[in-house]
Amino acid sequence: MAKNLLISGGRIIDPGQGWDKVGDLLISDGEIAWFGDKGKVPSQSDLVIVEADGLVVCPGFIDLHCHLREPGFEDKETIGSGTRAAARGGFTTVCCMPNTSPPLDTRASVDYVRKASEMDGVVRVLPIGCITKGRRGKELAEMNDLAEAGVIGFSDDGEPVSSSRVMSLAMEYSRDLGLPIIDHCEDKELSNGGLMNEGWVSARLGLKGIPAAVEETVVARDLALAELTGARVHICHVSTAGSVELLRRARDKGVPVTAEVTPHHLTLTEERVMWPQHGEDKRLAYDTNAKVNPPLRSGEDVAALIRGLNEGVIDAIATDHAPHTMADKMCEFGLAAFGISGFETTFGCLMSLVHEDKLSLNTLVARLTAGSAGIVGNKYGELGTLKAGCRADVTLFDPGGEWVVSSQGFISKGKNTPFEGCQFKGKVVATIVAGQVVHQDESVKVRKKR
Ligand code: DOR
Repeated sequence: MAKNLLISGGRIIDPGQGWDKVGDLLISDGEIAWFGDKGKVPSQSDLVIVEADGLVVCPGFIDLHCHLREPGFEDKETIGSGTRAAARGGFTTVCCMPNTSPPLDTRASVDYVRKASEMDGVVRVLPIGCITKGRRGKELAEMNDLAEAGVIGFSDDGEPVSSSRVMSLAMEYSRDLGLPIIDHCEDKELSNGGLMNEGWVSARLGLKGIPAAVEETVVARDLALAELTGARVHICHVSTAGSVELLRRARDKGVPVTAEVTPHHLTLTEERVMWPQHGEDKRLAYDTNAKVNPPLRSGEDVAALIRGLNEGVIDAIATDHAPHTMADKMCEFGLAAFGISGFETTFGCLMSLVHEDKLSLNTLVARLTAGSAGIVGNKYGELGTLKAGCRADVTLFDPGGEWVVSSQGFISKGKNTPFEGCQFKGKVVATIVAGQVVHQDESVKVRKKR
């Protein structure tokens, strides 16, 4: 690998610094070295040039919420396959959830993920530690040990802490450790085995519904607890208009809360569950690839989420990449696993919002970079920026690049996508981590300077 990499002639968008201009970006020794007008770079030896005319160059995307499945569920994904899929999706940093086996509730299990990521990962992996031992919601994990092992926050993702007392105690510890509670908000007693959004589609299909209140009651509780304790709370995968409203009010009051939304909740509604829209077999009543938790909601919810994202009530877009095996999904709706394999479709699917004028390109980039970086914090250096001296994590995309989703071509082991067959306009063409190209589309032209 050359010492110097010049990305030449691209439109450089760095929302953290308010940059949006065409120019050259020089990377030296894995760090951002220089930015300026095209052709004006100070002369360099040992230079590789990436031609970026017509492409957008931005800080590498940061995913606050994914499932890499290792240790324990390597049939669904490994740190190797998951991070290569992430790189293809433009992500240079991913934060992985602790619902592994064993769960990330001890220093040893967090150390394992950190070491395996160093060995097999192609992007940076930042682990999230459990709030409670075994994700059972009863007894706090050794949060101090987990913080020392390097977790960027605490979550019992998928198994929300039902006890308000345990949650408020966890918030006191997380506040003192300076780390966020990364909060999957779901009242399991209320959802009671629900399978999809409660509404006309669930009634028509005869599937048990999950009302919006399942999420909103816990969002309301945890915003109250954040106010009580002063802890930083990050609300995961917001899915309802009511949650956006609760967040708006809490932010207005100065409660220390942030939030994320997924690409699927921004672009799909509950109707996607009804039948395979791109598959051939129209005899099926439902598509388990659209079964996800929280569930796909109504059109009004989708509109409220987009508004919340535009207004900054929602800070970041996170994939909730949840790969599953074919066997986990090729079964009755009630038995199928919740989750969508998201790394490789996230960017293309989000670009549809840009082409439909629902989101500006700059806001989209901001919510994938500076927005998520603000939540991770600076524990691992400054992320989500192209500032000189920072680690050179860079993503290049073609905003007009057209492609068709085919899960069989995914790098991820999880082929479970509700976007199969969708035609997207917007393609990640190169991903650079610490100055090394970890993903490169065949369309990208690279040459050595003689
Ligand atoms: O759909 C989901 N899948 N939601 C979750 O909360 C967990 C995730 C998984 O681990 O598969």
